[in-house]
Amino acid sequence: MKRRLEGKVAIVTGGGAGIGEAICKRFAQEGAAVVVVGLDTDPVREVVDDIQARGGRAIGFLGDISRQEAAEECVKLALHDFGKLDILINNAGVFPATAELDKYPVEAFEYMIKHNIYSVFMMSRAALPHLQKSRGNIVSAGSEAGQMGSPMITPYGGTKAWVMTFSRGLAVEQAKHGVRVNCVGPGPIDTAWTHKETGPMDSKMEKNTVNGVPMGRRGTPEEVANVYLFLASDEASYVTGATYFVDGGVTLSKSLSGEEVPAHLKKEPTDGLHLQHEKDGHTKVKSEYQAKMQ
Ligand SMILES: NC(=O)c1ccc[n+]([C@@H]2O[C@H](COP(=O)([O-])OP(=O)(O)OC[C@H]3O[C@@H](n4cnc5c(N)ncnc54)[C@H](O)[C@@H]3O)[C@@H](O)[C@H]2O)c1
Repeated sequence: MKRRLEGKVAIVTGGGAGIGEAICKRFAQEGAAVVVVGLDTDPVREVVDDIQARGGRAIGFLGDISRQEAAEECVKLALHDFGKLDILINNAGVFPATAELDKYPVEAFEYMIKHNIYSVFMMSRAALPHLQKSRGNIVSAGSEAGQMGSPMITPYGGTKAWVMTFSRGLAVEQAKHGVRVNCVGPGPIDTAWTHKETGPMDSKMEKNTVNGVPMGRRGTPEEVANVYLFLASDEASYVTGATYFVDGGVTLSKSLSGEEVPAHLKKEPTDGLHLQHEKDGHTKVKSEYQAKMQ
């Protein structure tokens, strides 16, 4: 059976760790040649070695792709080593702080503008002329937090909303060139970000983050990579401008934050309209109407 990305060339940003590592390995398993992109402190080499050791095709690119020159060099490397570019995965991102906004570090905000927004802009801009030639596609990392907004990480959610809105506009703009553009919107995933030991969440936030998910657990990087795989493959040939949430249902359900409101702020305002029927409602099957429906 033909593998799902046989003959394709993909750039995966943030490919050295977390969800990006899973995307690189899944894509390579499905036949893609992969450019694994990361900062020079990321374990890009290990991901490349592992893919090659399993018979896959991969090369590494170390650089900060929020910078125009690095983004352009990265695309050049893909063309030089693999001859073309079919898929750009804008997965690189950062999650440096959690705090209420009046205490949110300004440098963390600027860091996210750079790594979550500039990277997507620069890489998409550099890749597009080549994706137009191959009739390729872009899939970027949105987030449940970008759709709904999330307390304690409000600026992070804003950067992800930018990615999702940018992608929708780009999808419409580039359709005439045969380029599809989509997003994946993860909920809490089992990477460094969602554990108090390795990310900026404290234990309360970690607990609420996991308990707020209807499925009651984090997603795995592999579960997210599977959706990237579908969207990047020819199986999704009629999908563009979409965000596919991979979030265990949390975007629809959130959240537990009502527990945090102190009792004096939970008092209902006093009724000024003399309502008499507010608790009367039609809240069960009434036999007289059920009989009429039959
Ligand atoms: N983990 C989650 O719960 C979660 C939830 C929603 C969305 N996401 C999104 O998924 C993506 C991956 O998240 P993760 O948890 O795997 O993160 P991660 O930190 O494990 O991996 C991201 C990688 O991107 C790299 N990177 C960041 N900026 C870069 C740049 N300018 N140039 C090159 N490399 C850069 C980082 O160094 C890191 O290795 C992010 O975009 C994130 O916003 C994650």
